Amino acid sequence: MVAVLALFTPLLLVASSWATPLALPGLPRQGAITVNTPVGQATGVVDGGAVRFTVRYATANRWQPSVVATTWTLPNGASDPAALPHACPQDSSVENSQPTSEDCLSVILYVPPVAATKNVPTMLWIHGGSFIEGSATGPGLDGSKLAVATGSIIAVVQYRLGVLGLFPPNGGTNLAVKDVINSLQFLRQTLPSFGGQTSKFTIAGQSSGASMVRALLGTPSAQSLFRSAILHSDPMDFGLLSTTTQSSLQAAFTKSLNCSSSTPTTSAAAAAACYNALPLSTILSAQDDLMSNAASIDPAAGLNEPIRPCLDGTLITSPLDSTHSYPSVNKPLIISTVLNEAGNAIYNYNAFPDPLPGSAFEPVVEATFGQPRTQQICSSTFYGVPTSGNLAIDVRPQIEKLGTDYIWKCSSWTFARNWIAHGGSAHVGMYVVGATYPSNANVPFCASGGGICHEDDIMLLFGTAPNPTSAQAAVTTEIQARYKNFLSANDINPSGMATWAPATTTDVHARVLGGTGEAPVNACTPTFWGATPQYDYQVFNE
Ligand SMILES: *[C@@H]1O[C@H](CO)[C@@H](O)[C@H](O)[C@H]1NC(C)=O
Repeated sequence: MVAVLALFTPLLLVASSWATPLALPGLPRQGAITVNTPVGQATGVVDGGAVRFTVRYATANRWQPSVVATTWTLPNGASDPAALPHACPQDSSVENSQPTSEDCLSVILYVPPVAATKNVPTMLWIHGGSFIEGSATGPGLDGSKLAVATGSIIAVVQYRLGVLGLFPPNGGTNLAVKDVINSLQFLRQTLPSFGGQTSKFTIAGQSSGASMVRALLGTPSAQSLFRSAILHSDPMDFGLLSTTTQSSLQAAFTKSLNCSSSTPTTSAAAAAACYNALPLSTILSAQDDLMSNAASIDPAAGLNEPIRPCLDGTLITSPLDSTHSYPSVNKPLIISTVLNEAGNAIYNYNAFPDPLPGSAFEPVVEATFGQPRTQQICSSTFYGVPTSGNLAIDVRPQIEKLGTDYIWKCSSWTFARNWIAHGGSAHVGMYVVGATYPSNANVPFCASGGGICHEDDIMLLFGTAPNPTSAQAAVTTEIQARYKNFLSANDINPSGMATWAPATTTDVHARVLGGTGEAPVNACTPTFWGATPQYDYQVFNE
């Protein structure tokens, strides 16, 4: 979902005094903290109980593949190690408060004190934002508390967004995916200098960041770079773009830039010079137009997130779904969703009347799904819509549940079952407690109506919810303890904590995070979503 209202006060990273003296061997305990790496000296600053290092991990010319950095350099020409990196170019939103720059391939490391004495794990966090917005400095993403709580290095990475990352007019694809892979290569080389053990490396992300994780799970060349993965609220219904859809969208975008050789006399060099001379504002405006038109260019693009990684067959070779042959897999995964993933979309922007009468249910479903999925959904009992009698009820709760199910919950559960069937393991969870993310602050259903909306898990995981309630603090404590054990020992069940049962091919045993027991299966049974009504990736990508 795209957040459009800027109500958030930017998170300020305030360096407090260093409570426990950092004991990195041979390093000063006060002032700037330096670490020698194979690519030069890194300088960090105290951030909460951790030390924060910011670095440019790669460089890239516009619409060219990125190249791994060979020197340790502060981003954007900064000389102050406390400076935060510029975000990748994007429209303004609550997901980013930094200046933007095409020089944006930065990663922020939060190194816990234990790193000096132990070989600690690392978790790379890939931010969300529908592949068009977000940054490593987005709300709640300061990893210092998570680093201390998990005894792990938390690395928060940026990658090129939107058309700059995924639709190069020269016909390439997946530049943004290659950016993240380059960050893994850079970290592999440099983490040992910070006490990181490269074999204990987990990739994690939320929303489109989790979609990026999924893309990396389908990338053979990336498999040796991480041992486990965590997916928060991946909108799995969308799937990867097919090469056909990607080419159609890319061609429309390229045409809109008016640079390509419209006559035989326009040379490739002239076109390239034209692309490089385009102001960012022109590119972002063309991207906005593409977003609006994508579903009419190719319905497979979908209405929500048309710019996304592509199943190119060379870098990414599997969508890890039922539409293609499935590779054998073995990595452990954690897959979670939140109770009301679609809450923002359904209750925001006055998207639907209040109340939405029961008579509107079927037309809304039909507009979204077309036939025959509409009949399958409306004739099932899962969404509890009356077919006769009193239709004067508000059916927004049913529409919200439907959206949550097909885009996130059931598609994630289907993914988990497939993953296990082909050799992997997974633990599935569902958050029923959240911390309202700034993008949801203007939606009463999310902010005060009890809805646990998309992104409301982020600050619980990072331990950055302001003034947490005891229920929020309890979820933070549980999830950080479980992640600590998972990151270090591939085990989500630390001793003394209730057992989180692994998913099986027939029952994903989704643990309720913030409540008790397992989440109700409802429409996410193996015989309904994905089997009767199909996901978009099944409809469009088979
Ligand atoms: C491309 O040309 C069309 C038609 O002249 C114009 O409307 C559009 O603004 C141009 N786009 C750019 C990026 O200059």
